[in-house]
Amino acid sequence: MLMQELDRSEDGLIERYEQHPVLANIGLLAEEDFAAILLQRRFLSLAFTPSYDLAIDLLGDEVALRIARIILREEYPDDRGYTPSHREDMTEDLRRLVVSRAAVVGTRPTAATRQAITGTLELIADAGAHPDADLRLVTLLRFWGEVLVSVEYGRLWERMEPVFSRGGENRSRFYYPHHVHDAKANPLATVSRLSTTHPDRLATRLSELLAREESADSFVEVFKKVEEGALRLKEGFYDQFLPALERVGV
Ligand SMILES: [Fe+2]
Repeated sequence: MLMQELDRSEDGLIERYEQHPVLANIGLLAEEDFAAILLQRRFLSLAFTPSYDLAIDLLGDEVALRIARIILREEYPDDRGYTPSHREDMTEDLRRLVVSRAAVVGTRPTAATRQAITGTLELIADAGAHPDADLRLVTLLRFWGEVLVSVEYGRLWERMEPVFSRGGENRSRFYYPHHVHDAKANPLATVSRLSTTHPDRLATRLSELLAREESADSFVEVFKKVEEGALRLKEGFYDQFLPALERVGV
């Protein structure tokens, strides 16, 4: 019952993000506005790992800690330096989308982008300051760092696909793999220890932590608040591009 209620609330938020006007109309934007979005989004990706490190600092649960450490290490495959990190993969995808090196080098984060970054750190720090910090942090890492990212990249992919899919081969190293791998593939209510995706691993720990929580029912409202906070941050990032829709008459 409890997990179903969490799922219902979460699915509503997922749909809300999918329907953000900028994401829902991504295919209509002018080329330079789409590039501007990706260039700003890059700064959020660069801030992903410090955010994770902050969460790791604040987590107490040993199992959740290990999951978070593994996810963070997967960002940097190969400890001998021969393989690009996920962030390097992102920049390579960006370049393939005809964003020039000069644009990458010359772009600075806007005030709204900086707000999205500091807001994330605040959200994590705030989650860590509560007695139920582990529940809050696992909820946040899963929703902010996996589920919503997958939703977002799914939308961006609608526009990127023709660039990457040529000759039946998908050459995206970052956006597409993260869209697929970070998706909410299973409801919280039915997630199992056998599932190995990032969101499922975090979901498994969340349900285990909830199962031994005496006041688990009162966590529903906390869960909703934490997830809503993560969504609002991400919506705030895309709100800065609403004028780009006006430019194409949407
Ligand atoms: Fe992931």
